[in-house]
Amino acid sequence: MMKSQRLYPEFHGHCLSSQRRVSTRSVAGLAVGLLLLAWHFSILPRCLPEAHVLSRKSRFQKCSIENYLATNLTFLQTAERPPLEEYILRRDNLAKALVADSVDAFVVEPGYTFSYYANITQPEWEVWEPEERPFLMIIRPNETPDDPGSDSISITANTTFLVPHFEEERARLLDMPFPEDIFTITYEDHWDPYITLWESPIWGDTLSPLLMIDEEMRDFISRGLASRGFSTIGLRDEVEAVRQIKTAREIDILRAVNTGTVEAIRAMRKCLYPGVTENEVASVLDNTMRAAGLDPFFDIVEFGRQAALPHGGHNGTAELREGDFVLIDVGAHLYGYSSDVSRTFFPPFFPEPPLEQFNVSQQLHVWKAVLDAQTAAVQAMVPNNTAADVDLAARHIIETAGYGEQFTHRLGHSLGIKAHESPYLNQGNVWTRLRPGMVFTAEPGVYVTNEFGVRHEDVLVVREDGEAENISGGFAVSAWEP
Ligand SMILES: *[C@@H]1O[C@H](CO)[C@@H](O)[C@H](O)[C@H]1NC(C)=O
Ligand SMILES: *[C@@H]1O[C@H](CO)[C@@H](O)[C@H](O)[C@H]1NC(C)=O
Ligand SMILES: *[C@@H]1O[C@H](CO)[C@@H](O)[C@H](O)[C@H]1NC(C)=O
Ligand SMILES: *[C@@H]1O[C@H](CO)[C@@H](O)[C@H](O)[C@H]1NC(C)=O
Ligand SMILES: *[C@@H]1O[C@H](CO)[C@@H](O)[C@H](O)[C@H]1NC(C)=O
Ligand SMILES: *[C@@H]1O[C@H](CO)[C@@H](O)[C@H](O)[C@H]1NC(C)=O
Ligand SMILES: *[C@@H]1O[C@H](CO)[C@@H](O)[C@H](O)[C@H]1NC(C)=O
Repeated sequence: MMKSQRLYPEFHGHCLSSQRRVSTRSVAGLAVGLLLLAWHFSILPRCLPEAHVLSRKSRFQKCSIENYLATNLTFLQTAERPPLEEYILRRDNLAKALVADSVDAFVVEPGYTFSYYANITQPEWEVWEPEERPFLMIIRPNETPDDPGSDSISITANTTFLVPHFEEERARLLDMPFPEDIFTITYEDHWDPYITLWESPIWGDTLSPLLMIDEEMRDFISRGLASRGFSTIGLRDEVEAVRQIKTAREIDILRAVNTGTVEAIRAMRKCLYPGVTENEVASVLDNTMRAAGLDPFFDIVEFGRQAALPHGGHNGTAELREGDFVLIDVGAHLYGYSSDVSRTFFPPFFPEPPLEQFNVSQQLHVWKAVLDAQTAAVQAMVPNNTAADVDLAARHIIETAGYGEQFTHRLGHSLGIKAHESPYLNQGNVWTRLRPGMVFTAEPGVYVTNEFGVRHEDVLVVREDGEAENISGGFAVSAWEP
């Protein structure tokens, strides 16, 4: 509040000083001055020449970045780029899951899952477009006794790549995180790659190896494998849970990027002024996050009634006025991990308590109901509850407040290298049970058509004991303290 009280008069400075010049020169200085003062709000946008409009936005950005840097960006301290050991851990976790699911191998082509296990995305492999020659990673479990004669075995991953012969060297140059040279099976362009894979020695004497196919696999490859001697099933069970249960390193990055995103909103908010547009706010917020090395990839900014559309849709030219809620839903990347947070608040030039001529009692009532719904969701986010339980806990609060019909979307979703990952927290998902280490957004919302929208979105980790832990910088406190 202190900061904003300083900034608001500063913003008015340009108009007021030109008014003062007029009033000293004019004979009827006082009268003109008063007249101008009366027109103050109506002439505000026009009294600033283009250069000043630009500098107003750049001062807004400077203010926001300075506030952000004043946090010392301490949230970044928890994060580091996943090292080699992290990828080995993930593949070994997968190997254990394959044994638990009684599957011979997991098969995946470049994409999100491939990058989760081996750090290569689809465009990193195929710069121009996804191509028709399969490049597959095949991960099999290796079971070895811990000690000769002992019953306990350790399960580790054994990884193979199916790759076109002429691309083999390029695949090696990808510098994927493996402690030794990658093991490849190659095929010529005039061969059937699926037969080549089936005939390879990695299957021993298993006649029809059972493959679990990743959900991002293109259909023609799945069918190719199924028609050439393999049995195939889709992603599910323990294998699916591997990417859903975040490792300690992943949680550290998610905490950094989500806290950093909320802190950027808080820093930017203190610099808001009347008349700023949604697009200007989005651009300043993005540049604020970039100042910490975060890489923004979506940014929904909506004022007042525009926010009745949960995912935006208007053109971003609305100007901020007193009494308008600002709804922001924004995501950025850090080391390949996503943030996804939302805040709904009043700008600092709209004082608390609100001026009498603005009746915002319904807005504040909804703001509080949505926060209570979020709190209820967090309390329900405990091991063994279903995904549906969590959604319903929040939905119940909003229904009781009389806004059930206006809570039009699910409560939340998991997130990691993608902003939206499974499991999804909706009232139909009665099959997924929460497990420690799963990460979710809790983002209840209420959308009152033609009036306003409210959404509070934070990110939480399910913990073994007790309530889920917030990893997005703490929940909103009030419409003035988001
Ligand atoms: C940031 O660092 C400066 C200098 O070390 C220190 O004076 C200031 O209190 C720190 N700010 C915060 C929010 O920790
Ligand atoms: C993963 O890829 C990124 C960028 O491509 C690279 O900087 C990083 O070193 C890789 N990680 C490992 C463990 O090789
Ligand atoms: C991986 O499997 C191949 C083929 O079965 C085998 O030759 C190789 O020794 C295995 N690698 C490890 C590290 O166990
Ligand atoms: C944006 O939308 C508003 C309201 O629909 C419209 O009046 C305005 O012309 C649009 N501006 C641009 C730049 O498209
Ligand atoms: C403010 O608006 C609400 C409805 O949103 C209404 O119930 C209330 O009476 C109004 N308060 C005043 C002081 O006008
Ligand atoms: C959750 O369910 C599992 C399996 O049924 C059980 O082992 C575990 O103790 C349960 N955890 C809690 C916190 O109830
Ligand atoms: C959020 O979690 C942190 C620990 O990670 C805790 O210190 C803080 O009190 C929590 N904030 C809220 C508002 O629950």
